[in-house]
Amino acid sequence: MTDSFPGFDQQQAINWTPVWSMTKQTHKYLPTAFLHQENQQFVLESPLSKAKIILLDWRATALIAKLAQFDSSFTLLNLADTLIDPQTAQSFMQLLIATQMIALEPETKALAQWQFHNLLFHRQTRLQRLDDPRKSKLPRLEDHEQSGIVKPPMSNQVISLEKPDLAILAKTDCSLTTAIEARQSIREYDDQPITLNQLGEFLYRCARVKEVYTPEEDPLNIGEFTKRPYPCGGALYELEIYPVINRCQGLDSGLYHYQPLSHTLHLIADWNREVEALIYDAWKATGQQDIPQVLFIVTARFGRLFWKYYAIGYGLILKHIGVLYQTFYLVATAMKLAPSAIGAGNSEQFCKVAALNEYEESSVGEFSLGSLKQTNDNPS
Ligand SMILES: Cc1cc2nc3c(=O)[nH]c(=O)nc-3n(C[C@H](O)[C@H](O)[C@H](O)COP(=O)(O)O)c2cc1C
Repeated sequence: MTDSFPGFDQQQAINWTPVWSMTKQTHKYLPTAFLHQENQQFVLESPLSKAKIILLDWRATALIAKLAQFDSSFTLLNLADTLIDPQTAQSFMQLLIATQMIALEPETKALAQWQFHNLLFHRQTRLQRLDDPRKSKLPRLEDHEQSGIVKPPMSNQVISLEKPDLAILAKTDCSLTTAIEARQSIREYDDQPITLNQLGEFLYRCARVKEVYTPEEDPLNIGEFTKRPYPCGGALYELEIYPVINRCQGLDSGLYHYQPLSHTLHLIADWNREVEALIYDAWKATGQQDIPQVLFIVTARFGRLFWKYYAIGYGLILKHIGVLYQTFYLVATAMKLAPSAIGAGNSEQFCKVAALNEYEESSVGEFSLGSLKQTNDNPS
């Protein structure tokens, strides 16, 4: 620890002048610091700090609580109260300043736009953490993950899906350039809803398992992997697709799970008020235009990734949602369907309807799909 810090006048502090007069303006002093329990200890961290302070004495926690109630009349004597001597309080302040838990300068405009959880997520997923467990131990799937390459069928009410002829599609599809240039978010549909065959073709082209394989090199002892149309970090494929069917020719309305290995749908719930609420939320999120004919609720099986990717695991899932969305968009465009990504959804409600444990598997993205309005520009 250094003897003095910018903005902190030791002599003034010892003379019990107001603690906060050491800083230039009134502002938040512990702007992003947070306390949490780790290994049966209370730990202070902040996304603005590279340090982690373990609070071995409960009085340190009490001091932090007092510091958080910043007040320009505060003195070291106030801070120390009857808990500890003022010199110790001063040393603790110095430690908090040195580790950037306390900010002496007012928040900049750029920093002020960050919500606490966004900043923490950004720092935790971009910074190389010194206490990253990967440094000490090679992870192994068998130590963590009980579920396999795909989820077991979620019900025995099974609907077989269309398997398109890819050789024919390769000749008849629009070009990649046309698909990319024509792609747009469309939230209005034709009166004739999407068909079961179109839904099957769409899922086949976007998300089926193309191949199951066991690589020769497998240092983490993962065993089986799958190949699918969209890419995935570590090829672990944690995303699951749950089609919520509102209107689809040839398929009853309700909530289904897509089995990408057998390319089948499995009914989870018939149409009911709770399933309808999922569609209602999607309709609200898409500006209350036409009611989505099909809503894809995409979940992540967290255990598939977290054992390997630790702190970057959740960020990786959101990236996977992005690549799946773009695959959805381009295939929908090639198939002349109406696609739209949706940026908000109610995970708690979905987990209740699908009977999922939110910490094992939860929705992380939503996407709507329907039939394209037939116009002169869009002949069928
Ligand atoms: C991650 C993501 C989230 C989105 N969320 C919504 C949404 O909640 N509601 C909506 O109507 N459109 C949503 N969109 C669609 C965008 O509004 C749309 O992509 C954007 O306006 C550009 O228009 P275009 O897709 O037609 O090119 C989302 C798009 C993305 C990629």
